[in-house]
Amino acid sequence: MNKTKITYGFPQSKEEVKSAYRFVQQLLEIKLTHPRQEEYYLDVFETLPSLLIVAKSQESIVGCAFGSKNPFNKEEIGEILIGELCVHPNFQGNNIGKTLLTRLETNAKKEGFTALILGARRGAEPFYFKCGFSANFFFQIENTNCLEELKKLTIKYPIRKAEIDEGWTRLTLETINMVPKLEQQISARFPDGYIHYAFTKKID
Ligand SMILES: CC(C)(COP(=O)(O)OP(=O)(O)OC[C@H]1O[C@@H](n2cnc3c(N)ncnc32)[C@H](O)[C@@H]1OP(=O)(O)O)[C@@H](O)C(=O)NCCC(=O)NCCS
Repeated sequence: MNKTKITYGFPQSKEEVKSAYRFVQQLLEIKLTHPRQEEYYLDVFETLPSLLIVAKSQESIVGCAFGSKNPFNKEEIGEILIGELCVHPNFQGNNIGKTLLTRLETNAKKEGFTALILGARRGAEPFYFKCGFSANFFFQIENTNCLEELKKLTIKYPIRKAEIDEGWTRLTLETINMVPKLEQQISARFPDGYIHYAFTKKID
């Protein structure tokens, strides 16, 4: 990597939010169907700008971590969703990702938030473990008659959340680590379901 100094900050104007979003959009190949588009972060900028962390080398953006109040979990108002995090490939492996997360964590704490949550992309999980996150197995399926069977199959793990909502069943378990055996078992029994890990970290 170019050994120039990396600086960290948050956008000072809507134009800077837009530039940071373009960076993230390109690196993560964000599509128009993605739930958090530029508008979403322009709104976050109005209320919680310090949750939009940008790393720069000279004047160029080399990494971003975007947080916002978790829109999926209205009752847990203390939770920050880390929606997007990425470091330019030429700059990866230099502690920039970890520093972006630490900055976001510090700022979220200053704003009174108590936990971070994110959905990791495949391959990025070891990074989140290194940053102090725990993995929570998440399963959802468009079927409202399977929660009891799911609970029996996953009895070893504490339930973080179980819900049946608008035709969907969703189950989140406090597995702490990834559980490949359970993944295999559940996907063999419910091949139409969707398995994912929610990574969480308490920051209070
Ligand atoms: C994941 C990502 C943000 C990590 O950023 P980074 O700046 O390269 O990571 P860091 O240098 O801060 O790494 C911190 C630690 O995690 C480890 N690490 C980082 N990425 C890793 C990976 N994919 N697998 C295993 N370990 C990883 C590093 O080796 C380092 O370990 P150390 O503290 O023992 O030295 C970056 O690789 C990236 O943007 N990837 C592509 C997009 C992506 O997957 N984003 C995550 C979306 S959920």
